[in-house]
Amino acid sequence: MSYQGKVVFVAGGTSGINLGIAEAFARAGARVAVLSRKADKVEAAITHLRSLTPDVLGFSADVRDYDAVAAALADTAAQWGPIDVVISGAAGNFMAPAINLSANAFKSVVDIDLLGTFNVLRASWEHLRKPGAAVINITAGQSWLPTPMQIHVCAAKAGVDQITRTLALEWGPAGVRVNSIAPGPISGTEGMARLAPTEASEKAWTDSVPLKRFGTKADISRAALWLCSDEASYITGVILPVDGGFTLWGSGAIAHATQQ
Ligand code: HXC
Ligand code: NAP
Repeated sequence: MSYQGKVVFVAGGTSGINLGIAEAFARAGARVAVLSRKADKVEAAITHLRSLTPDVLGFSADVRDYDAVAAALADTAAQWGPIDVVISGAAGNFMAPAINLSANAFKSVVDIDLLGTFNVLRASWEHLRKPGAAVINITAGQSWLPTPMQIHVCAAKAGVDQITRTLALEWGPAGVRVNSIAPGPISGTEGMARLAPTEASEKAWTDSVPLKRFGTKADISRAALWLCSDEASYITGVILPVDGGFTLWGSGAIAHATQQ
């Protein structure tokens, strides 16, 4: 699938699943900008992505800081022109029962995942290619499955998916599509290191996936490339699970897996 010359902006694109998505767009010929907080991660991602495509930008910024996010998007558009694809994937997660969460702990995750997604999308609007742009928010099964020790993530990702649906309505008339991808457990990621820290918990997650394996970063990036392409041009406002069927079990499986 070719994205030759297209402009792609990935918030949270310096590690894990989102870096995998940035890599896939770079391999497909896109010009790719990534943003995250830590300058060393941004530098490493730039170096890596430049081995795949010549046009790479990196920004060290916090998605909770609207002005910093807006400056990065404006800089990207100033250098390369209208933005074709925006991925909003910055997120924070840790396991904690609600009674052990301070108000600030809850707020931190909601601010990164939900306010951060609003900031990225709101600031991108004036720079999007209209018509034709595609936006993907990276969500999680917790957005619709109540999950013990994940109240902060459940609340934040549910909000992210309502952003997806609401902006699909508001931005559809301008020819901008807005969708979510909900990855299942993905191997070799910070997210699963936090959610499945022991062999027993990893086995519980694997056993609960109908396809009997963790997903790969490539499983997610392939879905993202397709969803942003003309092949998916009539799809908007959708929450697409890419999870081996994991969430079909309902909240029982995810509750079991997170409590091992
Ligand atoms: C309880 C905790 C905690 C824990 C932090 N806090 N860890 N509370 N249990 N394990 C509390 C702190 O005490 C503090 O509250 C508040 O959270 C903010 O902590 P800071 O460290 O100051 O916040 P910050 O530097 O903004 O870091 C945010 C973070 C951190 C979320 C806490 O872990 C982070 O930067 N994460 C980014 C990487 C990441 O999480 N990747 C995984 C994404 S995976 P007080 O009251 O003390 O001030 C994902 C997928 C899930 O989202 C789905 C899988 C299926
Ligand atoms: P990850 O490697 O920790 O990715 C998170 C990215 O977001 C990093 O680049 C991180 O870089 C950045 N980030 C975090 N807080 C930020 C902030 N405040 N401002 C700007 N950037 C920030 O985690 P991952 O496991 O690959 O998860 C990626 C996405 O997939 C997340 O949206 C997550 O919810 C979702 N997801 C993951 C899984 C899984 O199995 N891993 C399952 C379902 C959903 P910095 O630290 O430099 O900021």
